[in-house]
Amino acid sequence: MSDKATLEYNGQKYEFPVIKGSEDELAIDIKTLRASTGGLITIDPGYKNTGSCTSAITFLDGEKGILRYRGYSIEDLAEKADFLEVAYLLIFGELPDKEQLQKFHNDIREESHVDEEMKKILDSFPKSAHPMGVLSSLTSALIAFNPSTVDVSSEAAMYHAIVRILAKFPVLVAWTLRKKKGLPLEYGDDTLGYVENIHKMMFRRPGKTYEKNEIVIEALDKLLILHGDHEQNCSTSTVRIVGSSHAGLFASLSAGISALWGPLHGGANQAVLEMLEAIQADGGDTKKYMAKAKDKNDPFRLMGFGHRVYKNFDPRARIIKKAADEVLGDLGIEDPILEIAKGLEKEALEDQYFVDRKLYPNVDFYSGIIYRALGIPTDMFTVMFALGRLPGWISQWREMRLNGEPIGRPRQIYIGENHRPFVALDAR
Ligand code: SDX
Repeated sequence: MSDKATLEYNGQKYEFPVIKGSEDELAIDIKTLRASTGGLITIDPGYKNTGSCTSAITFLDGEKGILRYRGYSIEDLAEKADFLEVAYLLIFGELPDKEQLQKFHNDIREESHVDEEMKKILDSFPKSAHPMGVLSSLTSALIAFNPSTVDVSSEAAMYHAIVRILAKFPVLVAWTLRKKKGLPLEYGDDTLGYVENIHKMMFRRPGKTYEKNEIVIEALDKLLILHGDHEQNCSTSTVRIVGSSHAGLFASLSAGISALWGPLHGGANQAVLEMLEAIQADGGDTKKYMAKAKDKNDPFRLMGFGHRVYKNFDPRARIIKKAADEVLGDLGIEDPILEIAKGLEKEALEDQYFVDRKLYPNVDFYSGIIYRALGIPTDMFTVMFALGRLPGWISQWREMRLNGEPIGRPRQIYIGENHRPFVALDAR
């Protein structure tokens, strides 16, 4: 395998180094392209063929349906680890020992208060506000109450910002849900596990004792792990590019939440449930929706299907589909939507249009069915995605800052008007 690539242009040859990653992925390093060719750049809308960075956090192989966090398979982590352990692994690169995990959790617990003034900002939103918009705003507003988290020139300052957001973000998630339900904005119980405390903050009813349901906590923990990180997806790339201006962790995360909100990205889990409910209302007529998804004149897409990288099953979708059966069975829930989803999946996997385009179920296709069984409202599904993706975003932001990466600033090819003389208003 050559370690150089040659470009021939206008009768001249230019050589560029080819770099190889630890999983034998190859990239042409074009850092010197514009200077050495007198102005040539590359263009690649959607960055389908363009790498933005080297990273040691997550590896995925779209053809083989492989996903690993720091070298550990998603199957192992979902089965054998808990979410806080995986958060530590993603951020610091190694699975923590008991002492490290305990210290990490204690440091987070120390930061779990949110300034009471933040409740006034939350109060200013109408109940109809989409939780992702609320959460992006509250995450940015947190900066005003935690100014020391902006200028993180040392690893200690970085750690301080990281444990603060890992502590406060779940409170904002819980308060966002409770505001929608007209419930008092309370805290959970710091003596509980990280995910159990989140669940208690979200669902404890006033005046009632919180009853822990192991099945629910385990399912939630697994779903959060499965959403932990996914290399340079749209929202993570947003976090990295906003962070590259040194805007600070919370500002970068707020931007990432907004990017995740889109229905082509994390917003798909809400769109999947709405699509399945529409099919159910339509008498379960999946054929009509398959036809719409294939009709080029119809903007409708089969939500939860297809992926920029996976051209095979999304390994997370396999795990979530199995978990959906288990959780609904354990909770004794008969949800016809699950059967509609399975029918739609079967149809799509046998349909030439989908087979030709290698469109398989992705992480969003079944996740909403479990969230619904856990009592999470549909418009909070993408918030749960953000909660799971938080350690991934943090790890990617930390890697970018520790690597001292330059500010992200892509070039363009201008296709507008050439230079022209100004025309005075009364002459136009
Ligand atoms: C996530 O990047 C990540 O890692 C994201 C994520 C993460 O963990 O961060 O995995 C999370 O965002 C998962 C994806 C959730 N989105 C959806 O489920 C929305 C539905 N899916 C699509 O919109 C689409 O598949 C994307 C956006 C996910 C990927 O789109 P691409 O890579 O830009 O592919 P494309 O739009 O160029 O599609 C290629 C072809 C096109 O047809 P042709 O022009 O070749 O005829 O496939 C078709 C598309 O029309 N197609 C679909 C389809 N997805 C692609 N047709 C019908 N239904 C679909 N869902």
